[in-house]
Amino acid sequence: MEEEINNLRNQAFFQINEAKNIDDLEKIRVNYLGRNGKISKYIKHLKTIPNEKRKQIGALINETKYVITSQLTAKRNLIKNKAREWMDLTVPGEKIETGSLHILTYAIEEISSLFEKIGFIRKRYREVEWDYYAFESLNFEKWHPARDDWETFFVDAKDHPKYGPMLLTPHTSSAQVREMQNAIKSGDKAVKMINISKTFRRQSDASHVPMFHQFEGLFVDKEVSLSNLKGTIDYFIQNFFEGKREARLRPYYFPFTEPSFEIDISCDICNKRGCKVCKDGWLELGGAGMVHPNVLKNGGFDPKEYRGFAFGWGVERVFMMKKNLGIDDIRTVYSTDLRYLKQF
Ligand code: PHE
Repeated sequence: MEEEINNLRNQAFFQINEAKNIDDLEKIRVNYLGRNGKISKYIKHLKTIPNEKRKQIGALINETKYVITSQLTAKRNLIKNKAREWMDLTVPGEKIETGSLHILTYAIEEISSLFEKIGFIRKRYREVEWDYYAFESLNFEKWHPARDDWETFFVDAKDHPKYGPMLLTPHTSSAQVREMQNAIKSGDKAVKMINISKTFRRQSDASHVPMFHQFEGLFVDKEVSLSNLKGTIDYFIQNFFEGKREARLRPYYFPFTEPSFEIDISCDICNKRGCKVCKDGWLELGGAGMVHPNVLKNGGFDPKEYRGFAFGWGVERVFMMKKNLGIDDIRTVYSTDLRYLKQF
């Protein structure tokens, strides 16, 4: 009987191997495993087998059933996969959507890599700060009306006994004193950072959003001069903007730099002749200046020995100027409408 069952199994294997399609396989299944199939007959037979042999034959039958079933499944999958291999080349393909980074992320990457090439180290500082770092240590008097220009968001939290109210950083200059203090702590004799982070001001119109980005350069060393600042600005302008552009330093006031400037860049639409976009041939890029001695002192650097320059400009602003994107409402850059963002 054991031999019969083994033969049966071999027969089934042979037939499964020869089967050409799913119908063939179904016939084989019914023939062997169906209710009146060959295996079932043996199961019915079991009763007549003496006790001591019954267990052994039963196990053999079960095993045979199992291996035939798995062979059938394997062959069925093989046939199905073969069927799938046929391909209609005239059917239009499925379009795979690829993601991309946000345009401002590209702008931030480009800005930091340009400055890294000339030795500025990319840094990021906290965006929830104390008044001391955002204003006080930057030489703002408590009462000074210049504070109003920063339209600051204050956080509803307890004042720090030493550093005053808590706020959202209204400019990246809040990192100047922190960076200098960190340099002193780690024994560095100079600072050369590019800090790019989020900044917040209570403003919202076509050219302002309440949350935007700034990039802040700070260079402190023994021999830093205004011509170094001008050279750095020229380097950035020549490498970041397309076409030939010029920079202009216009005297200005910031409490934390002396002298202070607004940097303008020549308009490439009219080539300095004046047009609808720029009005007088120049576009405003942002502030810069030589670090005020009081700020150096607050950072732990002796102003008799050290000098520094700083600049802080808006990422969104330079990006829009670079591309002449014709974006007439900056708020759209932060919309989540992919149809809009994909244009760039
Ligand atoms: N923090 C200034 C602003 O937000 C810009 C600035 C940075 C000016 C560094 C001078 C030096 O307008």
